[in-house]
Amino acid sequence: MNATTLTVAVETLDAGAIEAAIPALTEILRDCVVNGASVGFMDWNTLADYERFWRDVAAGVASRQVTLFVARTAGGLVGTAQLHLIGKPNQPHRAEIAKVLVHSRARRQGIGEALMRHAEAAARDMGRNLLVLDTDEHGAARRLYNRLGWTEVGTIPRFALMPGGADCGSTFFYKDLR
Ligand SMILES: CC(C)(COP(=O)(O)OP(=O)(O)OC[C@H]1O[C@@H](n2cnc3c(N)ncnc32)[C@H](O)[C@@H]1OP(=O)(O)O)[C@@H](O)C(=O)NCCC(=O)NCCS
Repeated sequence: MNATTLTVAVETLDAGAIEAAIPALTEILRDCVVNGASVGFMDWNTLADYERFWRDVAAGVASRQVTLFVARTAGGLVGTAQLHLIGKPNQPHRAEIAKVLVHSRARRQGIGEALMRHAEAAARDMGRNLLVLDTDEHGAARRLYNRLGWTEVGTIPRFALMPGGADCGSTFFYKDLR
């Protein structure tokens, strides 16, 4: 992929479109895990596990608890991100960003940033003006979120595991969109 000619569009997928996109979404998730991202899965997880995950996301989209964004280039889907609406009656203003994933062949071209900017704008449009997320303390995403003006709250050691089984601290962030 040539960075000088890259055109990327960020779109929102409905549940039916997610079903159709499961092979591409599964490949993005598989690629992130095998390349060492701590995103909820271990290196022994199978394609069936990833496909089941995306079907659950489609169900969340169908029930309007989740919004799924994808980044598309001429070559197909290369990235994705999610917005989870907090359903509690006392938190109607809050949402969580999750599973910001860019395929390793498409990284460092601004796609992660484009997904984040799109997700933030969508949250604002839905009246969700306090966003939270967490990420691997040593991952590239931590720099991305800092660059986009998110506030670090702190890091919890041993919060999760890396795909190979090592401990992974998670850094928690928030962004007030008001
Ligand atoms: C984190 C992640 C989503 C970032 O995606 P990305 O598309 O590479 O993000 P960006 O391109 O916007 O920014 C990444 C870097 O590329 C740089 N960059 C952006 N456009 C560039 C360009 N045209 N030329 C050169 N560098 C560029 C950015 O400055 C940034 O640099 P830094 O890491 O040194 O700060 C991606 O690395 C990923 O999927 N990681 C694995 C999954 C993961 O951990 N996700 C987070 C879960 S919370």
